Amino acid sequence: MKISVIGAGNVGATCANVIAHGNFAKEVVLLDIKEGLSEGKALDMWEASPVNYYSTRITGVTNDYSATAGAAVTIITSGIPRRPGMSRDDLIGTNAGIVKSVTENVIKHSPDTIIIVVANPLDVMSYCAYLTAQTASNKVFGMAGILDTARYRSFLALELGVSPKDIQAVLMGGHGDTMVPLPRYTTVAGIPITELVSEERLNAIVQRTKKGGGELVKLMGTSAWYAPGAAAAQMAETIVKDEKRIFPCCTWLTGEYGLKDIYLGVPVVLGANGIEKVLELDLNDDEKALLYQSADAVKGVMKVLDDMKLF
Ligand code: NAI
Ligand code: 2OP
Repeated sequence: MKISVIGAGNVGATCANVIAHGNFAKEVVLLDIKEGLSEGKALDMWEASPVNYYSTRITGVTNDYSATAGAAVTIITSGIPRRPGMSRDDLIGTNAGIVKSVTENVIKHSPDTIIIVVANPLDVMSYCAYLTAQTASNKVFGMAGILDTARYRSFLALELGVSPKDIQAVLMGGHGDTMVPLPRYTTVAGIPITELVSEERLNAIVQRTKKGGGELVKLMGTSAWYAPGAAAAQMAETIVKDEKRIFPCCTWLTGEYGLKDIYLGVPVVLGANGIEKVLELDLNDDEKALLYQSADAVKGVMKVLDDMKLF
């Protein structure tokens, strides 16, 4: 199967690299508008194939969408990242135009592709890609929940001094400071987290998770790429292998959780058809209030997109 990765910057190149190492795709096409960037990074990755034992063929192109034709999965990472002092929402003015034009080209050459959006502000860029692609909503969704949950799980692993592999968690809501980690649905090898970590420490870890992206922007002057690239690659792998894994993904809601006409992070079953099912958890009143607060924040940014009159 062919996978296209649009944007060969930090996240796009990392994502392509993780996909190649996973050796589950026949071909990865990396595309960017910067002359030579995709070609160079793709060649470098291909030259690593004999060392790292993968046969996934990686090629790079400069803005040539004919090379992406027939992709089963397309990952859109093209867009500017935030700098210190910026919120993800500050990116909409630039990234909405990029995501719209990229999606138009992607769909022209791969009308049946499944689109995974990564560009920020994530929930609204997923909406932007959906409006542009005019395809079924199960085929256009965003990556954020796997990343945010991974941050939460990695912090819990540090706290407990155990392997991150054994920490399972659910996180919902938008990809921003209003995201909703759910301690009631967090376990360590089946043991409820509340039996292992004090309420005070758990709250501190939830707060660190919510600001996890900003912590890295402060350290590096730009946003993260290793965990984001790996998270997007994991979604592609699940789709290509039709694994039907359960992940939080940014999904178009049509009444689930009492919410509709909005892209928001919820747990889903991910498989060959994209979003195959939205799982509806029995949230308590506090959890619901946090989710609705997050939905309101996303709706506010959706209105900014609507007011841009791109559609
Ligand atoms: P970057 O600046 O390293 O890479 C972006 C690439 O997109 C650049 O190489 C640029 O030339 C390319 N690009 C710009 N316009 C294009 C177009 N029209 N067609 C093709 N390529 C184009 O940025 P980075 O760090 O890779 O981040 C990319 C985006 O992903 C940002 O919007 C960032 O905020 C977002 N992000 C989202 C995450 C999430 O959890 N959803 C996590 C990390 C980043
Ligand atoms: C992150 O959370 C920037 O959204 C990106 O790292």
